[in-house]
Amino acid sequence: MRSPAGAAAELFRSCFGGTADGVWLAPGRANLMGEHTDYNEGFVLPFALGQGIAAAAAARAGRRLVLCSAQEPGSVAEIDLDGLAPGQFTGWAAYPAGVAWALAAAGYQVPGASIAFGSDVPAGAGLSSSAALECATALALTELAGLAVDRPELAAIARRAENDFVGVPSGIMDQSASLLARRGHALLIDCRSLETSQVPFDPAGVRLLVINTRARHELTAGEYGRRRAECELAARLLGVPSLRYLTDVGETGRLTDPVLRRRARHVVSDDQRVLEVAGLLRSAGSWAEIGRLLTQAHVSLRDDFEVSWPEADVAVDAAVAAGALGARMIGGGFGGSVLALTGADAQVQAAVAGAFARRSWTAPEFLPADPSDGARRVGLGFFEEAAVYVRDEAARISSEIAELRHAIHREPEIGLDLPKTQAKVLAALDGLPLEIRTGRGLSSVTAILRGGPGPVVLLRGDMDALPVTEETGLPYASVVPGAMHACGHDLHTAMLAGAARLLSSADVPGTVVFMFQPGEEGYAGARQMINEGVLEAAGSRPVAAYGLHVTSQRLPCGTFSTRPGAMLAAADQITVTVHGRGGHASVPHQAADPIPVACEMVTALQTLVTRKFDVFDPVVITVGSFHAGTADNVIPDEARFWATARSFSEASRSALAELVPRLIGDIARGHGLTAEAIYATEYPVTVNDAAEAAFAGETIAALFGAERAERAEFPITGAEDFSFVLEQVPGAFVMLGACPPGTDPLTAPTNHSAHAVFDDAALADGTALYAELALRRLAQG
Ligand code: GLA
Repeated sequence: MRSPAGAAAELFRSCFGGTADGVWLAPGRANLMGEHTDYNEGFVLPFALGQGIAAAAAARAGRRLVLCSAQEPGSVAEIDLDGLAPGQFTGWAAYPAGVAWALAAAGYQVPGASIAFGSDVPAGAGLSSSAALECATALALTELAGLAVDRPELAAIARRAENDFVGVPSGIMDQSASLLARRGHALLIDCRSLETSQVPFDPAGVRLLVINTRARHELTAGEYGRRRAECELAARLLGVPSLRYLTDVGETGRLTDPVLRRRARHVVSDDQRVLEVAGLLRSAGSWAEIGRLLTQAHVSLRDDFEVSWPEADVAVDAAVAAGALGARMIGGGFGGSVLALTGADAQVQAAVAGAFARRSWTAPEFLPADPSDGARRVGLGFFEEAAVYVRDEAARISSEIAELRHAIHREPEIGLDLPKTQAKVLAALDGLPLEIRTGRGLSSVTAILRGGPGPVVLLRGDMDALPVTEETGLPYASVVPGAMHACGHDLHTAMLAGAARLLSSADVPGTVVFMFQPGEEGYAGARQMINEGVLEAAGSRPVAAYGLHVTSQRLPCGTFSTRPGAMLAAADQITVTVHGRGGHASVPHQAADPIPVACEMVTALQTLVTRKFDVFDPVVITVGSFHAGTADNVIPDEARFWATARSFSEASRSALAELVPRLIGDIARGHGLTAEAIYATEYPVTVNDAAEAAFAGETIAALFGAERAERAEFPITGAEDFSFVLEQVPGAFVMLGACPPGTDPLTAPTNHSAHAVFDDAALADGTALYAELALRRLAQG
């Protein structure tokens, strides 16, 4: 998943154009101890999570806030700063609007601003995504306007937004945690004096785990307000300004109403637990004791305060039974999350997941809960900055890339000798700081970009066309009869040239080899380039190699797809010649007819596929060409056929090479004939390295979002000579959807069709991916 800051910055660009003036991140919170104590003026001990909400913001002219959120795609909220009134907005935009309102009510001049939000705090999980949204907005608006508002005041303003504008009567805990917490600490808040102190909280040796029970927590529902009113009534009946003033749980026994008695008992006992836990943390006391207090608090919230929910109770019980030191629900209740203090994390997760599965509940989500820093302005981080740069640059040069693609498409060349295509590539690379070598036995181009010290990465694009007469009617359609870029290699070549241009002006931590390769369509051009030294071209061997392939169907435009292990099949060729003895068709017994024998071989090959190969390691044999005879009344001497054999493992491939000739020979012998079967190995299985495929998937997700990174369930039965590279260098081959707009990926003409069309929109994405794969992989060393 992209970081909230990266997502916000990117959304800002797409919503508003240009770059934000800054990105501010406010974390969600978990709470170690003290639930429903804050509005009773008691104690709480929350901490900030690593997860948060980011606001990418820029000042804008006029008196409006314009807001968009990555969590609410397509919805843009426009807020008139001069007409704000409580209750005016519902939904997510009410929180930032409320902050603008509360800032103004506190006397601060709020500027017009454009803000895009990104988040990795699950909403409704009781982790205070609403406070994070308020605090991110509050920080962004005040820092944009250069207003000096101290953090406790900002927390009070954010709380006011929630209480008085949105209408949720919450306490001060969440906003304080989001704005004031510090990494490695829990925040002890005295909610009467609003004094805070940082309590060292370094759970070394134990783990904190948030279990999102997936039962949605909605604070606006009335139960929270009812609890608050009950507590206030209890305090009144006991003659104290708030329940905080009670220090002895026994005093709550004076309440005659059993419900109020239970409510008060929880608040007073939880206040004590907060102080106890803070004391234990300060004196490096026992985690087991803290765990015990956590579970005790859960029982109190469940039985006395009655804000727990079934999923939380089951999660707590399962976690404790599986060895957790303690666990409890956190937040307002009636849905949301449980916090567990664990030793053996995996065991606890498995136990909770199992308990949920047995009840057919939605699987819980487990999140790390590291005590983190409070709200702050953030940079985007090296990789995010790089990703934004790469995407922007690829988009900026996309018309050049398209021009090159169209020029190559117009003049397609087939096979290993592609002089015109080679000349176009060389012209496109001209002037870039590259070492260029051209092939000897084929018109390849190897370009080497030497950046800083570091390893070598290879990027490959193929250049050749197919013997197809184009029927697309495109303005840049082939002018060469019988030749067409029907497999999209024109896009690969142009994208790779684009990546070379892009990386030439980037800070590259190593060396990139750009492999422009002819003869992919059956000529094994990759093998020839390897023989001519492409893998040693940079001086040392690449640590990784990546290839891209567009598809005119199946994948929606812009979706990438890859998988670990077999990505494409091995493709081999079977040539069979059956030798008989010709004669008159009316007396076949006097001849030795090769035709029925060859036909028997065709069907026997299909039986071989189903009887000799594991159904989970599939094999395809297709006889695509069959030739025999000249006339209906003549038995020929010979019959011949050709088949392609596809397989996905070395075991199947070598079994095919052994079994096919034997079967053909045995059938011929059985009929008193002879036959030859030549099993010619062509392209091996294209095998993606598992780690490299995962890395490619992460890189795609980082560049374009996880929704555009498909993990292909099955390999493709097509074949690729990039397989020769992947036999020697770990790497990944990635497919990219390039289906034109308005066409259905499921029915669009396929690669190799005379009607196949590939959309130019894929060009910038492919270029960006090539470049980003190289940059990230080189940075890994
Ligand atoms: C919600 C509120 C907080 C606090 C908790 C319960 O998170 O926003 O102020 O009352 O519930 O402890």
